Amino acid sequence: MPELSRRALLASSIAAASLPAWADQPSQPGLHAHARIKGMFFGTAVASEPLTKDPALMDRVFAECGIVVSENAFKWFDIHPEKEKYDFTGADALMNWATARKIAVRGHTLVWHEANPDWLEPALTKATAEKILRDHIKTVVGRYAGRMVHWDVVNEPLHEEDKKPLALRDSVWLRALGPAYLDIAFHATEAADPHALRVMNEFNVDYEIDWQLRKRDQLLALCADLLHRKVPLQAVGLQAHLDAGEIAIDQKGLSQFVADIASMGLKVIVTELDVRDQRLPASVSARDTAVAAHARAWLDAVLPNPAVLGVLSWGLSDRASWLNDKFARPDGLKQRGLPLDEDLGRKKLWTALANSIDSTAPRPAPKG
Ligand code: XIL
Repeated sequence: MPELSRRALLASSIAAASLPAWADQPSQPGLHAHARIKGMFFGTAVASEPLTKDPALMDRVFAECGIVVSENAFKWFDIHPEKEKYDFTGADALMNWATARKIAVRGHTLVWHEANPDWLEPALTKATAEKILRDHIKTVVGRYAGRMVHWDVVNEPLHEEDKKPLALRDSVWLRALGPAYLDIAFHATEAADPHALRVMNEFNVDYEIDWQLRKRDQLLALCADLLHRKVPLQAVGLQAHLDAGEIAIDQKGLSQFVADIASMGLKVIVTELDVRDQRLPASVSARDTAVAAHARAWLDAVLPNPAVLGVLSWGLSDRASWLNDKFARPDGLKQRGLPLDEDLGRKKLWTALANSIDSTAPRPAPKG
């Protein structure tokens, strides 16, 4: 064998031996490619740290996703840290990364009871609150107008324990403005960027448990109320933070719930899918199987409705998941709730997503 080709062979075998776990899959289409065939999208949340420090993970985000959302960088705490100061560093970084790769971006979130800077609540008086909210939305939504495909205008508005009208959460915004905060937020978002889809995002509506079934009804009632008042709400985001140790998915009830949302003329987006496993035993293979089956049951009930536009997971790889902070396993092992493992290899959850998407009927082509 000529020296040159022997060296080439040697080099390629060294490279092969040191290839990362996902390298046997690069030619297999990513989840977004599966979703696109059906007229849907797939994407993920991206945190600011990996965006700048983990190029291998970002390569996988590029390979699997057609849309991204920042995990934290557009929240008030990050983007509006002081009353007179905005900080767009993290938000711009994601926007630039995605724009350079022709990946869509969704915005999360303009109104929430969490992730607010310390200055906010004391500054919200009857006289100032509406202007503060309007100015924030005008500035943030205006900055990304034309580039943002959706905005989670309001996040997690419901909390029946607070015993407020319409089961609204007793948040800083409700205290300052009453239920009108919803109207103000949706109208201001429309004014600042008429083309970004306006979403209300909610969680804990996944299971046939009394209080979650009531929450489904409360969400439907809130949407109906807003639409009746001509508030420009266009879609509901179902966060889908699932729990593989919870009761089985009630597929019939869940698909009826999605149909009820759609019957109001609203779109549906699966915004934050992950599957926590802290109630399952340690075995990796058993956990992966259970997580995948649980997600598959949920997805198979939701995706067939043509009002569902697409799915995003809340992180792509188990190497970076908020589940480890919020729902730490008692045995200290890492959660395995995302489509890729810590080495960026595709897991059974990836296959469950691909198969559920593949078995969905293609969406009718958009009119016009
Ligand atoms: C979480 C982030 O993932 C964490 O990094 C942060 O510390 C807290 O917020 N529902 C939401 C998201 O709408 O904004 C939350 O994100 C997860 C639950």
